[in-house]
This record gives sequence, structure tokens and C-alpha cells, in this order.
Amino acid sequence: MSQNRSSANIGVVGLAVMGSNLARNLASREGNTVAVYNRSPQRTRTLVEEHPEAGFVASESIEAFVDSLAKPRTAIVMVQAGSGTDAVIEQLAGLFEDGDIIVDGGNANFHDTIRREKDLRERGLNFVGAGISGGEEGALRGPSIMPGGSAEAYETLGPILASIAAVAEGEPCVTHVGTDGAGHFVKMIHNGIEYADMQLIAESYDLLRRVGGHDVDAIADVFAAWNKGDLESYLIEITAEVLRQKDAATGGPLVDVIRDEAGSKGTGVWTVQNSVGLGVPVGGIAEAVFARAVSSKPQQRAAVQATVESRPEIQQPGDNFEDDVAAALYASKMVAYAQGFDAIIAGAREYGWDIRLGNIAKIWRGGCIIRARFLNRIVEAYDNDPNLATLLEDPYFAAAVRDGEAAWRRIVATAALSGIPVPGFSSALAYYDSLASERLPAALIQGQRDFFGAHTYRRIDRDGVFHTLWSGDRSEIETEPSTH
Ligand code: 6PG
Repeated sequence: MSQNRSSANIGVVGLAVMGSNLARNLASREGNTVAVYNRSPQRTRTLVEEHPEAGFVASESIEAFVDSLAKPRTAIVMVQAGSGTDAVIEQLAGLFEDGDIIVDGGNANFHDTIRREKDLRERGLNFVGAGISGGEEGALRGPSIMPGGSAEAYETLGPILASIAAVAEGEPCVTHVGTDGAGHFVKMIHNGIEYADMQLIAESYDLLRRVGGHDVDAIADVFAAWNKGDLESYLIEITAEVLRQKDAATGGPLVDVIRDEAGSKGTGVWTVQNSVGLGVPVGGIAEAVFARAVSSKPQQRAAVQATVESRPEIQQPGDNFEDDVAAALYASKMVAYAQGFDAIIAGAREYGWDIRLGNIAKIWRGGCIIRARFLNRIVEAYDNDPNLATLLEDPYFAAAVRDGEAAWRRIVATAALSGIPVPGFSSALAYYDSLASERLPAALIQGQRDFFGAHTYRRIDRDGVFHTLWSGDRSEIETEPSTH
């Protein structure tokens, strides 16, 4: 294999599909010379043989790979997130020198990224956790990239990443998200929103089929039509394609022979765990995670089905049923994004990141799985007011929710009466109604908490903290906030 000392400006370690596609993408851009290394050399040899045009500088040992990189050495690690990542980082760190840059392009847990960055910084190295979205095709043709790490590392890395990122509205879909784990945090939230979006689309499909009475091809047409309007997005586009796919064995729609048990690899769960820890209600994302979990409990599903005597009658679809579903989908989607951005705000505050929300919306407009026309509206919203209390406060979103509200309610009601689960639609509506209600029953909860645990409450008419002497004469006293 050719050895070329210190000639590559960027290297890729880990040449499974994502890694090799990213390496090919890098090599295809002017000015990049790409070093490649994989633990099993056969994979490296195959990549180099299959893609002579890339001019890869290939190595069969990690030492030779490190030698092939120009200073500051910059290597992107593309291995399965987890303990394997630590091993590869350690190998590189042992050979890298002051100022060199190790990039983790996997779906790492941002807590690991914070730990790794701190450890490597103390050893004089730069560590950048970079979320990369867009799947295999995105890695090859232009992903959306969410790098964290130091500003110093971004000076070297930024132009290289910009050279391979997707371009939306003339701008590369990459930005320095924030320090240490900020990039992987934002990628985690991206995935959480992805879960919510997919769940909402799946609920729409279910309603169009079971209430709307459409066959699968007709539903594909509905999605294709939606993809020409406000709902235009990658996930809507591929939904039409998935629905159109026929199964070779049965001749029927492929979707009808796929087991209805959704899998997951963990980023959705992380989003919910971390958001709950940060005190951010991300019900839309949580319901999407739970819906996958429920689908994957065949025994419980069968057990309950065995108890069912009759299922509710499916309601008649109202006039303009498809438009109603589209409106419910759009409104629920706005809620899911609002919740996701809330989680970013809370994460930034907790971990000390200076995250520009508008920039995040910008880099999600192209390349990534949740890319959508709708993200332009989010960019505008944060351009107009970077300090929005919630996206739903922005005039465009507020008006869009108002416009879709009646349809959204009709759809949730129709689904409930028909016995069709719509956890995404209904939790989004409940969230909206919670924010929109002048008064919530939380007052009663405070009363209950004070009753059994002297947890205290605040009054609407006076400052201070109060407790009712429930087991005494039930008079009220002013007190200190409870600490238990
Ligand atoms: C992306 C995707 C990518 C991936 C997830 C899906 O942005 O390119 O989000 O990260 O497909 O791993 O996660 P689940 O397997 O948990 O659905």
C-alpha cells in the first residue's frame, strides 16, 4: 500500500459504510488528501481498490496512518459508539502531539464526549465530538454536521467539514455548535426530534388507512402531495417511497409484511432521559420513544388483545379528512420541534454552551434526516427573536397552530373514538393546551403535596411560601419553602 508521509490534511479511522462514505466524500472535494485506516486491513484494501479516483493515502498500521497526516493532524473516528471508541481514541492519542485533533463522528453519548474532551485537553490534544446526520447517503453526498470541541480545533476542522457538508440556501450545513459535548448533545436532540417526526408520520398513515379508508398506494400519493407544501421534508418523501414498495413474495405492500415492532439504538431514549433530568417536558419525543417500546412488547399486546371483546367502531372520516390529518401533523410537529429546542436551551444553560438556536435550525435544513422546508420558519423565528420563550410564541408558529387547531382537535377526537392510538398527536395537543390554559390543576397537586408532606405552596395574591395546618386547625401559616 502506498505510504505518503505527512501528506494528508484529514484522516478517517473506521471504514464501515459511514466511515468509507465520509472518506469518499472528503476525497471528492478539492484540496483534501484523505488518509484512511481500518483495524482489519482487508476493508481498507477493498475501499482503495474500489475507489482509485479518491487517491486515498492508506495505512495498515495506526502508526503509519498517524505518520501520513500533516500537522495539525486531524483524524475523524467513525466507529460504533461505545467502548470501541475509547480504544481507538486512546491509540490515536498515544501517537498524536500537541494541537492535533481527534474527531468522533459517531453517535456518541455527549456525557462521554465531555469526559473524553477533558481528558484529551489535559493531554494537550483537541477532541471534537461531531454529530453527523444523513445516514449512509448523507455521509457520501453531504451530511449535516454538528461539531463541538474548542474554537481552536474548529479553525482547522471547520473548513474541512464545510467542504463535505450538505448545502442549504447557499450555506454549508455545519456550524461550531459549542464547546466539548455540545455537538453530540445537539445531535442527540436531532435524533429525538427525528423519533417524534417519524411517529407523527406513522400516526398519520394509520389514520389515513383506518379512518380514511385509503389503500397503501393512495396513502403514498397523499404523502407525495404533502411533500409539495409546508410539510415538505425528507421523512415525508421517503414515507411515500416506503409505502409504494411492493413485497416480492406476496405482491402486496412491503409495509404489510414488516413486523410492527419498531427498534431503536438509544439516542431517543437519551434525549428523553436528559431532558427529564433538565426539567424540560419533551412529551412528543417521549411518546415516540414509548410508542416504539410498546410496539416491541408482543406478549403484552397479545395478552391485552385476548381480553378484548369488541373494538370501537371506526368513525366516519369528516369532510377534508386528509387536510385535517395534515393540519394535525403540522401542529404536532411544531410542538415536537419547540420541545426539542427547549431541551437545547436547557442543555446549553446546564453545560455552559453558547448555542445559537438559529444556526442549529440552519444546519438542519439540509443533509440530515429531519431536513424540512419548515426549518426555514424556525430560522426566521430565531432571527426575529433569539430569546423566544418557546417557538410557539413566534407569530408564524402561533398563527399556524391557530389555523390548524380545530382540525387537530377533530383528529385526536376521531382517533380516540375509533380506538386508534395517536400518542404523538394527543400528547402534543395536551402540551399545547397546558401552555394555553390560563389555569392548570397543578394548584390542586400543590394542595395535595402540602397535605401529605407539608411541601408548601405559593399563593396567587401574595408573595411568600405557605402551609396549611392540615392535621391541626387547618389555618394557614407563612413558612419557609419545604426542602423535603
Ligand atoms: C441520522 C440518524 C442516524 C440513525 C439513528 C437512528 O441522523 O443520520 O439519526 O443517527 O439512523 O441511529 O436511530 P434508531 O436506530 O434509534 O432509530
